[in-house]
Amino acid sequence: MIRDRFSENLRNDMSTDEWLICQDEYDPQENLKNESLFALSNGYLGIRGSFEEGTKITLPYLYVNGVFDKSETFMRELAALPNWLGIRLYVEKELIGIENCEIMEFSRVLDMKHAVLSKQYVLKDRKGRITKIEGRRFVSRNNVHRMAIELFVTPVNYEGIIEVENIIDGTIINFYDAPRFKVKHMYLTANEKLGEHGVYMESATRDRHLHVGCGCVLEAYRGEEKIMRNRMFNAFGEQAVEFGDFTAAEGETIRLVKYVSMYTERECPTYALHTTIKEEVDRFSEDGFEAELEKHSKVYDNMWEEADVRFEGDPELNRAVRFNIFHLMSTGNETDDRVSVGAKLLTGEEYGGHAFWDIELFMLPFFSYVFPQMAQNMENYRYHLLDAARDNAKKNGYKGAQYPWESADDGTEQCPDWTIEPDGTCYRCYVAVYEHHVTADVAYGIYDYVRITKDMDFLYGRGAEILTETARFWASRCEYIAEKDRYEINQVTGPDEWHEPVNNNLYTNYFARWNLRYVMALIQKMKEEKPEAYAALVEKTGLKDEELTFWEEVQSKIYLPRKEGTNLLEQFEGYFQLKDVVIDQYDENDWPIRPAILNTCKKQETQILKQPDVVLLLHLLGEEFEPELMKENYDYYEKRTLHGSSLSPSIYSVMGLKVGDDSRAYRYLKRAAFIDLLNLQKNTREGIHAANAGGVWQTIVFGFAGVSIDKDGILSVKPNMPKEWSSLSFRLHYDNAWLEIHTDGENNAAVKRLEGNPVQVKINGTTEEV
Ligand code: BGC
Repeated sequence: MIRDRFSENLRNDMSTDEWLICQDEYDPQENLKNESLFALSNGYLGIRGSFEEGTKITLPYLYVNGVFDKSETFMRELAALPNWLGIRLYVEKELIGIENCEIMEFSRVLDMKHAVLSKQYVLKDRKGRITKIEGRRFVSRNNVHRMAIELFVTPVNYEGIIEVENIIDGTIINFYDAPRFKVKHMYLTANEKLGEHGVYMESATRDRHLHVGCGCVLEAYRGEEKIMRNRMFNAFGEQAVEFGDFTAAEGETIRLVKYVSMYTERECPTYALHTTIKEEVDRFSEDGFEAELEKHSKVYDNMWEEADVRFEGDPELNRAVRFNIFHLMSTGNETDDRVSVGAKLLTGEEYGGHAFWDIELFMLPFFSYVFPQMAQNMENYRYHLLDAARDNAKKNGYKGAQYPWESADDGTEQCPDWTIEPDGTCYRCYVAVYEHHVTADVAYGIYDYVRITKDMDFLYGRGAEILTETARFWASRCEYIAEKDRYEINQVTGPDEWHEPVNNNLYTNYFARWNLRYVMALIQKMKEEKPEAYAALVEKTGLKDEELTFWEEVQSKIYLPRKEGTNLLEQFEGYFQLKDVVIDQYDENDWPIRPAILNTCKKQETQILKQPDVVLLLHLLGEEFEPELMKENYDYYEKRTLHGSSLSPSIYSVMGLKVGDDSRAYRYLKRAAFIDLLNLQKNTREGIHAANAGGVWQTIVFGFAGVSIDKDGILSVKPNMPKEWSSLSFRLHYDNAWLEIHTDGENNAAVKRLEGNPVQVKINGTTEEV
């Protein structure tokens, strides 16, 4: 067992196997993927799992959520900040590093239970000296401004002086290994001593000059005694380095601890950054590594009390499910509502840390049911950017509020207009121009968040304002086609991005109608039952009765394409006229093989899809459709979906179970749960697939446990357990109650209330109060 490779003090703190993600071999080609898998985040910041001593292949990124910058890039992106990981050990000038020595032993372990990354290695240098290095790091969730690394260094067959460099590296640039895209987002404003000891680096974003400070101290301990000598600070250009040394006897273990703190101008005035950070580092080193780690671990224990999903029958899969939940919950933020969760969390640079519709449809259900406070912050994030969405609508010639396809800190559209191919050719990227459904997805997110949490204050206040403005957008976006006496939405892209643009995408049209209808009903209710909130809404939005009359007209005449005389919904107008290509070959993992015809004709000329579109609509608004129609459409579109996006498998899993086709549901869950651990999309190096992580949770809770909220507003549990599992349990917050749900292999379910007010729950169709 990998745990046994660690010495007692580390091993004793390590959780049982079900919580551990292990790496037991060092292959530099795997570094970038592993940096994503082993990233640690505490909601405030995230740091990739790079090695302290540095390696040739590395993208050692550290992000603070909300610190964006544009500079020469196409869009504002999370800025790679000066990185505090660096600790380099030397013996007689030889760097004792993973790539400089012969590796005799190696392992790394991510302990998800307590969000600690540990490593142990035994290295032999060119002169035959053997050094054992073990250690761990964490970014505290108890105090998000504290991070630490602890190393145990043992000269196994020699004694002598070990020289140390404690480094903050300000040279890090985004897209470091993509020559065309490389960009430096930060410029240095200070590179100096932290205090008597330690290093301090301050930098600022290049466009808005937002300051970020980072300070740290590295201590060496023999027992309790501090033994670092000959400290000397040096500012080497954009690197801050403090040199020090200590002596160690043969076989003696010296403990090193690096205490780190970071603050930005968002939490602390610029002039006070240095002193605030120094004081934090001082207090941290007085409190000690162990004390903070203990508090941090307790926070994680509590988070897992809320978030863990357990099933019996497939421990590997259970661990993979935990892995997805781990990264998702680590990134959510319960205290800051100016940030959301990017498509790659804080673990990698693809998509620049931007929030997509991935938030509302894929991640928000998890947060609303498991961490409602984080969900509320994600909703407030959208509210704070409502004015920007209003401006966006105006800019594009519409009314109301149009949310951007990609959103960073200021709510302006951050989806690039252009991309550059490896050969230097540029092509126009139309996603932001056409993919309008995000505005309806934001509206749906409010509905979903509120029906789960019953946060009526949000609904009647900020929620109603967003909903009104998004409805306004849709009413202005729809075109009246007189000869057909109907409203249409033309030139749009639906969720399936392989058909771009199209006319009358069913998903978009249906959700535009849904948005209008939902708001009209809400406004009616507010008029009758919440006159003050209604008056405030009118005051804020200038809503007029004539508008409501117009919305009524638009929603009643929106065109919803379908194949006449059948149950088949048409993804967009003309879809059924495209080449009917069906997936009929599957690989050894039962995964669809790209039909050969796609080598000779373009995807958009065929009915092949990137990801669910009609099926997603059925997933989200299932109660509006007949079961037979859902099944026929699922069957039709499933055979034509190539899952080109990681957002795809989980939805097909849940929907397959809903329509009674469980043949692929388990396989889809496995695909989704292992997407990053096995690098199935081949791009884990760019970061963890956040929407997929939310999808994994949905597959289990909505799919296999069959949790839904019925038309009558009652929480329902109707399991559809895979034959591989004999039990499943997890916890949810619903309507101010905290519930534990347990199901067995025979689809029996039990719901227990752990806290809060009694609620009604329908278990396999029978309503009970729990
Ligand atoms: C998908 C989008 C998704 C985006 C970010 C794309 O590949 O097609 O639906 O929002 O990735 O995750």
